[in-house]
Amino acid sequence: MASTRAAAIILVALICGTMHCHPAAAMKVDTTGVAVADGLSLGFYQDTCPFVEHIVEFLVGEAFKKDVGIAPALIRIFFHDCFPQGCDASVLLNGTASEQIQPPNQTLRPTALKLIEDIRAAVHSACGPFVSCADILALATRDSLVDAGGPSYAVALGRRDALAPALPNITNTLPAPFFTVPQLIKSFGDRGLNVTDLVALSGAHSFGVAHCPAFEDRFKNGTDTNPPIDPKFAATLKAKCAGDNPVGTVTQNLDVRTPDKFDNKYYFDLVASQGLFKSDQALFHHSATNRTAVRFSLNEGAFFTQFAISMVKMSQMDVLTGTQGEIRNNCAVPNKRVGIQTAAGNNDGLAAEM
Ligand code: HEM
Ligand SMILES: *[C@@H]1O[C@H](CO)[C@@H](O)[C@H](O)[C@H]1NC(C)=O
Ligand SMILES: *[C@@H]1O[C@H](CO)[C@@H](O)[C@H](O)[C@H]1NC(C)=O
Ligand SMILES: *[C@@H]1O[C@H](CO)[C@@H](O)[C@H](O)[C@H]1NC(C)=O
Ligand SMILES: *[C@@H]1O[C@H](CO)[C@@H](O)[C@H](O)[C@H]1NC(C)=O
Ligand SMILES: *[C@@H]1O[C@H](CO)[C@@H](O)[C@H](O)[C@H]1NC(C)=O
Ligand SMILES: *[C@@H]1O[C@H](CO)[C@@H](O)[C@H](O)[C@H]1NC(C)=O
Repeated sequence: MASTRAAAIILVALICGTMHCHPAAAMKVDTTGVAVADGLSLGFYQDTCPFVEHIVEFLVGEAFKKDVGIAPALIRIFFHDCFPQGCDASVLLNGTASEQIQPPNQTLRPTALKLIEDIRAAVHSACGPFVSCADILALATRDSLVDAGGPSYAVALGRRDALAPALPNITNTLPAPFFTVPQLIKSFGDRGLNVTDLVALSGAHSFGVAHCPAFEDRFKNGTDTNPPIDPKFAATLKAKCAGDNPVGTVTQNLDVRTPDKFDNKYYFDLVASQGLFKSDQALFHHSATNRTAVRFSLNEGAFFTQFAISMVKMSQMDVLTGTQGEIRNNCAVPNKRVGIQTAAGNNDGLAAEM
């Protein structure tokens, strides 16, 4: 125990020597008004892994320097983890029953899945197997969002990892890009997210990419203008996707204005009828969502504040805590059922696993 603690201190000394441990640039949103889910807390790893946040922040920062696409990749994986059955790292499990091979996985980026496992390995080698993959994903998502220019917020910790992937009928509750606003409201409402959360979280399409099959309904029929699409934009998409051979090789930026930056320009796209998916553009045209979409286009601060609050809400959906689930020793595979798992903080049950 003493040696792993010493290793953690050395790692953090290295990290803090090469970067600011507290980047002050990001807009920090106070989300303490959002209720913290039972079993989660801000200081959860204070005794078992006090530097976990610094380790995650450092490794995400290194990955972001090499590939800014890691930020949209992570936030989408997080959405696909939390939305169907809760933030339990079930989406990270590979293998034959994996959520990753089900249709809505829609091209989750393998580099980001690997990054989470690499961070887990670093955190576990510094502290022992106390930190869950679900918590690492929640932290890494927040840190990459900040790296890309987005708001920062506190992440309460203590999530545990699912023992198995979600069933296909659960994964299929993820919304589709051709959904109408009433369908989106129903889909989010079923998961405890309201209309404001829907409009704010859709702003995650401020960065990252899509593949032609996800948006071909925007130009295939040429005259399909419900919701409206800028005809020049439709023509550009059509020409681009004509070269999508084999299917799935062409990518299109979700936000045509600032494709890699997390900002409120996504809502400018909607005002200009240049939202990529029907589910994006429709937000600007339905009376239940258009006022909020317009407000976010005019006021980035209001968008950032609501986005942070909605992310905190989503990051606490149906979490496993206490003795539920497990702390996975590899984010891609469930642990071998050799002994009884205990909650982080109780060293006894975990000693056998180290
Ligand atoms: C409102 C309903 C939503 C729908 C219908 C939707 C649909 C999609 C689709 C179809 C793609 C493109 C997949 C591909 O072709 O590769 C995509 C990408 C993406 N989505 Fe969503 N999404 C929704 C909400 C969200 C939310 C709530 C978040 C996060 C908070 C999110 C974050 C992203 C990001 C960042 C990407 C780009 C991923 C990358 O570049 O790797 N989406 N989404
Ligand atoms: C799943 O991940 C494990 C550990 O990284 C690896 O050994 C295994 O080959 C992977 N399985 C599949 C089907 O990708
Ligand atoms: C997602 O599913 C598709 C097809 O179902 C598969 O080809 C792809 O490898 C999967 N992606 C990941 C990251 O597992
Ligand atoms: C999914 O399927 C399982 C098993 O077939 C069932 O118990 C569960 O109620 C279903 N859930 C939903 C949301 O359809
Ligand atoms: C094109 O329009 C027809 C008739 O309105 C519709 O059935 C079809 O689904 C549309 N195709 C696409 C790709 O949207
Ligand atoms: C929102 O939509 C309603 C109904 O279509 C319309 O009356 C209203 O002016 C729109 N508001 C904004 C801010 O676009
Ligand atoms: C929706 O939830 C947000 C928190 O994300 C809250 O501030 C807002 O009051 C709620 N709006 C409605 C219409 O219930």
